[in-house]
Amino acid sequence: MSEAIDAIFQRRAVKLFEPVDVPRDVREQILDAARHAPSSFNLQPYRFYWVATPAQKAFVAKLCMGQKPAETASALVVAVADIGSFRSTTEGQLRWMRNGNFAEEKIRDYERTAKIGRILFMPGPFGLFALLKRALFRLLNLWKVMGMPPNSRQDWFKWATKSTSLACENLMIAAEALGLNTCPMEGFDGRRLSHFLGLSGRCHEIVMVIAIGKRSRAYNEPPQWRRPLEATVTLL
Ligand SMILES: Cc1cc2nc3c(=O)[nH]c(=O)nc-3n(C[C@H](O)[C@H](O)[C@H](O)COP(=O)(O)O)c2cc1C
Repeated sequence: MSEAIDAIFQRRAVKLFEPVDVPRDVREQILDAARHAPSSFNLQPYRFYWVATPAQKAFVAKLCMGQKPAETASALVVAVADIGSFRSTTEGQLRWMRNGNFAEEKIRDYERTAKIGRILFMPGPFGLFALLKRALFRLLNLWKVMGMPPNSRQDWFKWATKSTSLACENLMIAAEALGLNTCPMEGFDGRRLSHFLGLSGRCHEIVMVIAIGKRSRAYNEPPQWRRPLEATVTLL
């Protein structure tokens, strides 16, 4: 466990890398760590694009506005919030439950939850169902303690971005623990990058691009500043 803590405290956003190859097994461990992050309803609403071939990496680096971490990284990972994967994910989990000989009752429970989830997530024609849902939930909330489901495309992307960001942090900590360094970046041309990856505006939104590599010996790392704990934490 202390290795995890070490990786958390050692991680820095590194702005200059030296050229190294990321072996396949290391790449797989990093990506596997990402998908082991917790996610809302275990829906894992994201997809990672690992860009490592020189020409494609150079092109994506250009779309990251030529930032040095992007230009010098061994690989660039584009983390995409995906709100269109609900059905395939729940179907995948159902198949896994059936193959794993889960009790029929547990499978039915999950089927029911997935169905309710699909209804809650459905915007309906012209977003009318979402409007109706919002009004209904607001009304119910007047006398019932309850959470609000996402109701607009913006809400759904916000919902998916939370889980995607947690996966990104897992990815960066895993890279650090495996002897690599990273830099998360939100400085990129989202429209061009989405087009390059063939993403759909309806379902996909790029959350960040993560540069991965080995910190350059020439990189002069600035000291790390954080707000004091009492400015960050409220103890009740
Ligand atoms: C969402 C997000 C977006 C970021 N975007 C960029 C970026 O576009 N370019 C960059 O050089 N660093 C970027 N950073 C890195 C931050 O500048 C860095 O994490 C912060 O200054 C603290 O430094 P540290 O991570 O080394 O402690 C980003 C970090 C986050 C979390």
